[in-house]
Amino acid sequence: MVRTIAVHSFRGGTGKSTITANVSCWLALQGHKVGVVDLDLAAPGLHLSFRVDRSMIRGTLNDFLYGRRELSEVIIDVTQHLSIENGKLYFIPASFTADEIIRVLREGYDAALFTDGIRAMARGLNLDYILVDTHPGISEDTLLAIAACDVVAVVLRLDKQDFTGTAITLELTRRFGRQPLLVVSQVPKAMVESIVRRIVESNFHYPVAGVIYFDEDVLEASRTREIFVLTRPEHAFSKTMGEIAKRLAGLV
Ligand SMILES: Nc1ncnc2c1ncn2[C@@H]1O[C@H](COP(=O)(O)OP(=O)(O)O)[C@@H](O)[C@H]1O
Ligand SMILES: [Mg+2]
Repeated sequence: MVRTIAVHSFRGGTGKSTITANVSCWLALQGHKVGVVDLDLAAPGLHLSFRVDRSMIRGTLNDFLYGRRELSEVIIDVTQHLSIENGKLYFIPASFTADEIIRVLREGYDAALFTDGIRAMARGLNLDYILVDTHPGISEDTLLAIAACDVVAVVLRLDKQDFTGTAITLELTRRFGRQPLLVVSQVPKAMVESIVRRIVESNFHYPVAGVIYFDEDVLEASRTREIFVLTRPEHAFSKTMGEIAKRLAGLV
């Protein structure tokens, strides 16, 4: 059975796409078959992390949702492209043209098509995991991603607005009967991990899957489009990504 993991946060810029890219690559490196979907249709970005350019894209998630392409036509096998030797990594990009983004925002799309689509993708490719990168905040997409997934990684930073928003996301996740795991992101280096865990767990009463420190190297990697777990597996950030991947994947 596939395990589907949504990566969400109430506010933007928390590190969702960075986490999605690294966690999915880490799981693939372990030999798993992994699918990644860019459901951040309003601000897609994962194609950048995966170094997928126009020449590799036959169609996007938008094309599938509007009936212009079969799902099989829009899935890109990025395993070799990213030099991953063990498992498999498949990616469904979102359209990054202005017209398509406006259409999604104006018209929405058929939610059932998305849910059925990722189930069919899991069956067809015999996937172990699907990660869904989402748009921040609460929108129809959020509800859809939460409803369609088994686990919701709720990413937050240690600031007041993130805390308030996270409470709302957690409440929604609970109502859908889904399992939330908290990921604390961009934590200042001066803070002690055990204290961060205690603050967050005592506030929300859900388990913390990992604490990610703010790291200049990670920021720089987004500029050079590097996926840390692939290029710098010994880096502290990559180790943290591995720990989070194991928790999200239910391996520990
Ligand atoms: N742990 C981190 N340390 C430093 N910079 C980070 C970290 N995580 C993410 N970033 C940077 O923050 C920005 C937003 O990250 P991104 O993954 O795109 O967030 P989101 O998908 O939630 O909007 C990017 O420039 C990214 O490189
Ligand atoms: Mg993002």
